[in-house]
Amino acid sequence: MHLSPQGLDMTHPIQGKRLVLGVSGSIAAYKAVELASRLAQTGAEVDAILTPSACQFVSALSFQSVTGRRAYMDADLWGAEGHVLHIGLARGADCVLVAPATANTMARLAHGLADNLLSLTALAATCPLVLAPAMDAGMFQHPATQENLERLRQRGAVIIGPVEGHLASGVRGLGRMEEPLKIIEHLRFLFSRQGVLQGRRVVVTAGGTQEPIDAVRVITNRSSGKQGFALAQTALDWGAQVTLITAPSALPVPVGAECVQVCTAQEMHAAVMEAIAGADVLLMAAAVADFRPLQAQTHKIKKGAEPVQLHLVPTVDILQDVAAFKQARGWPRLTVGFAAESNDLLENARAKLLAKRLDLIVANDITAADAGFGVDTNRVTLLFADGRVEHLSLMSKAEVAEEVLRRVVAMLPSRT
Ligand code: CTP
Repeated sequence: MHLSPQGLDMTHPIQGKRLVLGVSGSIAAYKAVELASRLAQTGAEVDAILTPSACQFVSALSFQSVTGRRAYMDADLWGAEGHVLHIGLARGADCVLVAPATANTMARLAHGLADNLLSLTALAATCPLVLAPAMDAGMFQHPATQENLERLRQRGAVIIGPVEGHLASGVRGLGRMEEPLKIIEHLRFLFSRQGVLQGRRVVVTAGGTQEPIDAVRVITNRSSGKQGFALAQTALDWGAQVTLITAPSALPVPVGAECVQVCTAQEMHAAVMEAIAGADVLLMAAAVADFRPLQAQTHKIKKGAEPVQLHLVPTVDILQDVAAFKQARGWPRLTVGFAAESNDLLENARAKLLAKRLDLIVANDITAADAGFGVDTNRVTLLFADGRVEHLSLMSKAEVAEEVLRRVVAMLPSRT
């Protein structure tokens, strides 16, 4: 568990985990060196095991150099120190990750063969098995490979990828190993499930909604979605089941989040109202448009000498409807709003807290260069329904997410 019993010791879910990294014989083995390096930098203890054919592509020394730990080959199994080496590697491992996993190694694992150090260790291990297949598209599609994969999946193995792209054979197809960073995000999710928000449903909104003017133009705002995405990631890291409702954003969706893509305030309203039934927490970080053009033109408005008049009408206030829903149905148990203000920060935020019947509002002054829209940092003030006010110092948006979720954890009513 990455959180202390008090629930508030923030570390990456992978930190301190002991991983057996199995590397089998695909050209993608060179990427496994980067994977091992990044895992080690994230704080994992990585014990690499190379199959004989992996040794044709990369050396044990490469892995030792990036992990700072011994890397193993079949020769070690038969060497002087080989006494039950596979048992020692398997015991206490938090995960056996095979990346790249070739068709041959997956066949071995599916059938319980124990004819090299990696397959022996996998057979001896009781921890989760994660596979990142890599092979030519035809080999991946072959019924034998698919059957082996299915067998492994049914036994509980987590399969990451493969993805479409350029293959060693020179053609494009489905068979490339998933990128190391993405594999790490999958492990992050896997190791996060026992966190302090385990069993809790958290709904997060992010980004700036877009209100269409015509076929090509929209009214939007400067929100990047960074704060909302950071909240979603932290909630996932702490074990929550997360629904991320986002307006268009360039940011990658955190692995494990259920993502609902929306454009307009109206669409976000519909998505939020659907998602909050049964939800524990709503974190309403989205910058929702307050006005929309009365009538979006289906064609592109042509330019001319005359000024163009836009008739704007107010959009629905999502949090107002959430408050009514909460009063009637009891969900979400906690509602957190965000207030981006350019003046009278506390006064305006307090008014929104009351009007929208929030448990907490996170207020920030968007006129500060190092806080608010687009930048990676934020300086926020937390205003609680009970009147408490907390001023937080300048910190990253990931840290703001942690601070907000700490308060949420402390306020969440226990489950009946
Ligand atoms: N919000 C909402 N629905 C809207 C507008 C805003 O649910 N139509 C939510 C935002 O997601 C945020 C909170 O209300 O959590 C405050 O948003 P903000 O834009 O700061 O306040 P407004 O209520 O829109 O008031 P104003 O823009 O006049 O400051």
